[in-house]
Amino acid sequence: MTQRTLVLLKPDAVRRGLVGEVIGRIERKADWKIAALELRQLDRATLEQHYAEHVGRPFYEPLVEFMLSGPVVVMVVDGERVIEGVRQLAGPTDPIAAAPGSIRGDFGTIVRENLIHASDSEESAIRELKIFFPGLS
Ligand code: RTP
Ligand code: MG
Repeated sequence: MTQRTLVLLKPDAVRRGLVGEVIGRIERKADWKIAALELRQLDRATLEQHYAEHVGRPFYEPLVEFMLSGPVVVMVVDGERVIEGVRQLAGPTDPIAAAPGSIRGDFGTIVRENLIHASDSEESAIRELKIFFPGLS
């Protein structure tokens, strides 16, 4: 089942020089293809749309500030079961709970700075792709 997902490499991944490492893991999965990729400084309006589900939670404002703290890599990835697949590569939200071998488990320590975002369902992917790549068909 070929799918399309939105992936963000968060400002910590860019600052720490882990972009190549993370993209390499995605590229090495058989038959997954990068359909779009850009280094982009996000603005507050985009993040408010993206993280709308978290408005009002205690971590919301620090999360938005963190995501504004430097450029991110925004990517579109296509391939077999890629939505579930990138979430598996990333590991759970808390990097200490994430297994070694996962991106968060190998490189993260604190929950907010967990390196990568990936759409969590087909509905989320459609919604998020429209926010970050409105022109992509
Ligand atoms: P993401 O949306 O970034 O792919 O991560 P996720 O689904 O694993 O986690 P989610 O619950 O959607 O939370 C979004 C991001 O908010 C930050 N966060 N901080 N307690 C906290 O300090 C806290 N909880 C969540 C993380 O950066 C998380 O990825
Ligand atoms: Mg999420």
